[in-house]
Amino acid sequence: MMSPPCPPSTCESQPLPSEGLLFVVEPMSLSDVEEVMAIERVAFSAPWSARAYRYEITENRHSTMVVVRPAPRSEGWLGSLWRQFAGRGPVLGYAGFWLLGDDAHIATIAVHPQWRRRGLGELLLLSLLDRGAERGARRATLEVRVSNQAAQQLYFKYGFEIISRQKHYYADNNEDAYIMATPPFDNPWYQDHLRRRRRELYERLKTPGPDPASRSDPAEG
Ligand SMILES: CC(C)(COP(=O)(O)OP(=O)(O)OC[C@H]1O[C@@H](n2cnc3c(N)ncnc32)[C@H](O)[C@@H]1OP(=O)(O)O)[C@@H](O)C(=O)NCCC(=O)NCCS
Repeated sequence: MMSPPCPPSTCESQPLPSEGLLFVVEPMSLSDVEEVMAIERVAFSAPWSARAYRYEITENRHSTMVVVRPAPRSEGWLGSLWRQFAGRGPVLGYAGFWLLGDDAHIATIAVHPQWRRRGLGELLLLSLLDRGAERGARRATLEVRVSNQAAQQLYFKYGFEIISRQKHYYADNNEDAYIMATPPFDNPWYQDHLRRRRRELYERLKTPGPDPASRSDPAEG
């Protein structure tokens, strides 16, 4: 009997296990919300509330929220950091999507300013694409401020394209939004694209890079 088709990004995660990665993506729990909020307040001009995150975790069945932290087996300075945070490592970033019909709609994604530009945004985004496909989504969508170049570059790297522009979408400053979407997850070109991105990213995340605590210039977002 033929095995059922598996979602594209999920299929790829099987031959490319995340073993050896120095960071792990896990479901967000209520005990993470305080650390998530510390990042949220510096990452966004119109931050969500802690209550909103608690709702997403405990009540919204369409929601999938995750955090990234150092892997438990990390050694060196990364391992020390893991042990300092009650033996489970600090939250370095987080992300989430809502399953809206066929779409995994990316609701939020942020990385602590001191941990940017080392692939954690990519790891979070890839994890959302995997988890969205696992939950039955056929593509991913999102909206992003037209001024947010860093986020747009991340999304372009993972195959998102601009499909429209929403005038005055953001209430805090009246800014326009780009609406972006991936190709269908079952598109062979897109499967190959994600496979390459995953391979490159996993290689990158097997080495810890410099200790952010020793840097005086947190990466720009
Ligand atoms: C967007 C964000 C999550 C990216 O996180 P990150 O961990 O720095 O991203 P990565 O290191 O994985 O970068 C992946 C790619 O994104 C792009 N990118 C990230 N930061 C960038 C920047 N400052 N300028 C240009 N491109 C950038 C690059 O293409 C990068 O690939 P590269 O390393 O090969 O150049 C982070 O900047 C952030 O938290 N911003 C504030 C919150 C936010 O704006 N969220 C998006 C809301 S729509």
